[in-house]
Amino acid sequence: MIVAIDGPAASGKGTLARRLAERLGLPHLDTGLLYRATARMLMDHGQNLADVRAAVAAARGLSLTDFNAKILRGRDMGEAASIVAAIPEVRQALIDLQRDFATRPGGAVLDGRDIGTVICPQAQVKIFVTATPETRASRRALELKGQGETVDYLAILEEIRRRDARDASRATAPLRAAADSVELDTTDLDIEAAFNRALAIVQAQMQSAPHSLSN
Ligand code: DC
Repeated sequence: MIVAIDGPAASGKGTLARRLAERLGLPHLDTGLLYRATARMLMDHGQNLADVRAAVAAARGLSLTDFNAKILRGRDMGEAASIVAAIPEVRQALIDLQRDFATRPGGAVLDGRDIGTVICPQAQVKIFVTATPETRASRRALELKGQGETVDYLAILEEIRRRDARDASRATAPLRAAADSVELDTTDLDIEAAFNRALAIVQAQMQSAPHSLSN
């Protein structure tokens, strides 16, 4: 069974995907890390984020095993990742890695922006996680505060809006809900409630199409 979880920045899709994967006993790939790692590699080598050739080489050279998720999930990396993710050649370079992960025997959970639309249009379960920009900014601010950072709520809100706009307006694989996805609006839900809804969506799908879940 392939479970595709898409949605905008800080919607909670990563946490939901991780917890669903744990519950279902499936491997999980946070595909945002691929774009973050590509951007990081360029930055570490003093290269421009808009340098297509360098960005493609960086994307092709990625290895899932040597990710430092803590550094990659840092606040500045989200913006950088969004910039390299708008380069069609970079997206192309990362397709096989994602599809290979998704099509392992038994299945997988992947989260990102284009999993249900481009990477795994055949996914048996597709969830599009949303929340208002204000809610997402508040959650992000709280998370950063918890890590000891000084936070500026309005700057975070602005960052989230800018990233949404870039991710949704790019020509290749823009952020959007697949036509056959189920929307999960987490604006008024805490993580426990959101997880229960997500699990219910998966279970409903398992009941309605049990034969399509064996791969
Ligand atoms: O999910 P995230 O915040 O870690 O993603 C960082 C950026 O990477 C996001 O702003 C857009 C890009 N991204 C993408 O274009 N496609 C994906 N499947 C995942 C992330």
